[in-house]
Amino acid sequence: MDLNLTQKIIAAHLIEGEMVSGQEIAIKIDQTLTQDATGTMAYLEFEAIGIDQVKTELSVSYIDHNTLQVGYENADDHRFLQSAAAKYGVYFSRMGNGICHQVHLERFGRPGQTLLGSDSHTPTSGGLGMLAIGAGGLDVATAMAGYPFYVKMPGVVNVRLHGRPAPWVAAKDIILEVLRRLSVKGGVGKVMEYTGEGVAYLSVPERATITNMGAELGATSSIFPSDAVTREFLTAQNRPNHYLELLPDADAAYDEVVEIDLSLLEPLIALPHMPDNVAGVSEVAGRKVNQVFIGSCTNSSYTDLMRVAAILKGKTVHPEVSLVIAPGSRQVLRNLAANGALADMVDAGARILECACGPCVGVGQSPPSAGISLRTSNRNFEGRSGTADAEIYLVSCETAAASALAGEITDPRGLGEPILINMPEKFAVDDRMVIPPPESGRAVELVRGPNIKPMPAANRLQDKLAGEVLLKVGDNITTDHIMPAGAKILALRSNIPAISMHCFERVDSTLARRALAAGGGIVVGGLNYGQGSSREHAALAPLYLGIKAVVTKSFARIHMQNLVNFGLLPLVFENETDYDGIEAGDQLVIENLLENLAANEIIINNITRQESYPVKHSLSVRQMEILKAGGLLNYVKSKV
Ligand code: F3S
Repeated sequence: MDLNLTQKIIAAHLIEGEMVSGQEIAIKIDQTLTQDATGTMAYLEFEAIGIDQVKTELSVSYIDHNTLQVGYENADDHRFLQSAAAKYGVYFSRMGNGICHQVHLERFGRPGQTLLGSDSHTPTSGGLGMLAIGAGGLDVATAMAGYPFYVKMPGVVNVRLHGRPAPWVAAKDIILEVLRRLSVKGGVGKVMEYTGEGVAYLSVPERATITNMGAELGATSSIFPSDAVTREFLTAQNRPNHYLELLPDADAAYDEVVEIDLSLLEPLIALPHMPDNVAGVSEVAGRKVNQVFIGSCTNSSYTDLMRVAAILKGKTVHPEVSLVIAPGSRQVLRNLAANGALADMVDAGARILECACGPCVGVGQSPPSAGISLRTSNRNFEGRSGTADAEIYLVSCETAAASALAGEITDPRGLGEPILINMPEKFAVDDRMVIPPPESGRAVELVRGPNIKPMPAANRLQDKLAGEVLLKVGDNITTDHIMPAGAKILALRSNIPAISMHCFERVDSTLARRALAAGGGIVVGGLNYGQGSSREHAALAPLYLGIKAVVTKSFARIHMQNLVNFGLLPLVFENETDYDGIEAGDQLVIENLLENLAANEIIINNITRQESYPVKHSLSVRQMEILKAGGLLNYVKSKV
């Protein structure tokens, strides 16, 4: 049978299940990555599983999120992570070495392999022909312990790219076009597989911009073929032996097809406050800009920043704009420094930040009140920048640089002839900031500073579940709403009791206090609840506050798995209109849960309103067992 790329990689890694769309499968994981904001929990969880060494082919621990060191907290976390990497056989990418996805693409990703990362933008490495999936820290910890990763067999969407990109159309515009057409829910349960003759015009980092923002579609992953362009990139990275040709079979079947003519595209922009709220740059040109941020795991590669430098060269940033640039990796920064592009950016008035996530995750550079910030990153959720009433627009590097000079949103097509940047034949490769693990980590002690607090125990499913609706929220609630980021809160990622007090604080600042006073309760949500990042703190904090169930119209994949992993019951209204009948403060009861869960015939009784609502779940048998076992950690330990 002819197979597509996704099916080929899954078939080569399949441990359990059948490749039938929607059915649960288990796949072997070759590589894992963690970043510091999710990594401390992942390694505490790995420690709790009780295995000496990781069993993956390669695991990497990156420090890229919480790099501000204004208190002891982040430094404690980093020291713990460094000791855990040495103890358990994990490569440690030091602070300043770059953003996990950019560095992984450059130095570790391999076509045809599987990668599981505790970060929702892990599919970035799909630009190299990997099947790369984002998951919660506990899923990554179990993969490091040698257990397969369970996921529903995705449907595969073939995005066919035709023609050559129109002048000044960047990879960012291609993914914004996909988001414009399919929306932030359009990729749920699917892998986006890119083919067509237009693929050949995109370098690996450009492909990675597109696979990166597949996360904004809600997709399980996104992937490009591994071809001559991939070979060139890996050769320039001094690892030609990692190249493997990987193409779909000629008659491969797909569940859906999306056709895009690249020659007809124009520069695009995602308007506040959702990545799929897309318009043409020309439609909003002229709006004043206060800040421009160029960087993040979406757009911070060598070619990205070379284009920015070429646009800025010999000019000056507009006096009312703050332009900040964060190169994606130390390798990118070194190459820019060596060829003079860095000087061109600095001369123009750009401020260079360290190679880290920085403003993307609200660590520094918050825009002014009611300000407008143009960003090359992937998310523009309300408040994520650290300024509640700021407006964030997402654009390509070209649009960002042109706008920084003009002081207003500017269509880069007005800059004249497009800029051609060639990839270097050889990058200046230097891996000294990646510390390999010692041969044996047995003697290494984990270093636990006061910021490293124990994890709360997961809920164990009981036959009767009762509680007050502590909060009712609408559609598209993100993990940023549930567990905000930003420098102050990120510093508490290893301290669940402290970070839990910030749970939902931007939605209802009384929630944490009320939940603790009530001894827990239930949250009610709308469509696509939990979209956004993989942060398991969006499950851990509600767990700590005593939340037992979340009832919604639908869930985002990673968040639903995180709820299950910590024993929070995810239920979905059978009739979406029943959502309208429930209000915060209502008392809900579910009886005979253990029996009715298996039959998927669950009734919620609203005691306050004397109403009943049928609800269902999309849990696999294994996920039901995890809930009954009291979370994934208990479940895995019971299998050892
Ligand atoms: Fe970092 Fe932002 Fe990417 S937080 S991993 S740069 S989405």
